Amino acid sequence: MSIATGYRIEVMHGVNLDQLGRRDPLQYGALTLPELEGQVERQARELGMSARFFHSNHEGAFVEHLHGLQGQADALLLNPGAWTHYAWAIRDALEIAALPALEIHLSDVQNRERWRRSSVIAELCFATISGRGPDGYRDALAMLREELDRRAADA
Ligand code: DQA
Repeated sequence: MSIATGYRIEVMHGVNLDQLGRRDPLQYGALTLPELEGQVERQARELGMSARFFHSNHEGAFVEHLHGLQGQADALLLNPGAWTHYAWAIRDALEIAALPALEIHLSDVQNRERWRRSSVIAELCFATISGRGPDGYRDALAMLREELDRRAADA
């Protein structure tokens, strides 16, 4: 049974994530981005939430989307791809968005190349999930719901 919370989750994918399905399935799984989004949409609904999706390969477009989120979303689920590791403008835009955010990666970024170990957005996110493939998104949605419930109870 799902309990309606009405929380609006903005799911944002960054550079190269539209190429899922062509990228190394051992790192990223076999789903395409539309398939992953369809799965996330269903899982969000089961948790009584709604999911909206955005993808861009252009950093400026990603930043501007973050700028426009005020009043449009209750929380963010972010996989910025390689931008995670160096795009300070995205970090600043996330700070401006000022929404609860969870960072997610399909692959296990802590156990790959050294440059993937650092994240410019981690300090602004209440949690990070990596290395659980597409299944990690289900865990992320559950954590987002818990976090939003907790904040609503504290308010
Ligand atoms: C990624 C990890 C990044 O290091 C990489 O550049 C990506 C995808 C992931 O989901 O595992 O493009 O964010």
